[in-house]
Amino acid sequence: MLNIVIFGAPGSGKGTQSELLIKRYGLKHVSTGDLLRFEIKEGTELGKIADHYISKGQLVPDDIMIEILEDLIKKNLDKKGFIFDGFPRTLPQGEALNNKLKKNGLDITAVLSLEVNDEALIDRLLKRGQISGRSDDNDDTIKSRLHVYHQQTEPLKEYYAKQNKLVYIPGEGTIDEVFNSIEKAINNLTNG
Ligand code: AP5
Ligand code: MG
Repeated sequence: MLNIVIFGAPGSGKGTQSELLIKRYGLKHVSTGDLLRFEIKEGTELGKIADHYISKGQLVPDDIMIEILEDLIKKNLDKKGFIFDGFPRTLPQGEALNNKLKKNGLDITAVLSLEVNDEALIDRLLKRGQISGRSDDNDDTIKSRLHVYHQQTEPLKEYYAKQNKLVYIPGEGTIDEVFNSIEKAINNLTNG
């Protein structure tokens, strides 16, 4: 199984590149953000809780997210592999992902970290905010999301670097250029 974590700040292109990866490699897309937005739209209990955090740019608590993740893995073990988009975002989430995969005899192939500077991120998200209808694509919430990323999520890079899983991908080129770098990185990993 090819199990990829697509890692990066809000607006770094995780969702965009995931779609291309799914087409190319037929992986199961696990986007915790998409899942939570669906729950919000449906007005479920989980959606109500998630809305409270998402609209402020804060993280949904780990216990909730880990339960969701474990359930998603369990239900998709017949797939060719996973692309984890937006998970993990904290060290406990990273540990939970490693443990759950290991219990099923699986492992993360690589963590691809899309590197984009904060100014470009803000620019992309403000632009998307004009059409996306996402409650978190506004000036104040974008700033909180970036702050939360640097404080709580970015330390995972060190966690994965220690496991020799971290691959940096320049994320500021065109969508195709970024995807080319990703493909090269995956080819390097899978061809030894
Ligand atoms: P989530 O949905 O994961 O959002 P995010 O991390 O804030 O990132 P985005 O989806 O905004 O950006 P992206 O990296 O996918 O980039 P995209 O491809 O869209 O999470 C949302 C919230 O849910 C969190 O804040 C949290 O509250 C909660 N949550 C989710 N998971 C959680 C977890 N595990 N634990 C706790 N809470 C959780 O691209 C962005 C824009 O840029 C688009 O308009 C795109 O067209 C454009 N673009 C993409 N690539 C390029 C390029 N190369 N050049 C120019 N523009 C580009
Ligand atoms: Mg996304």
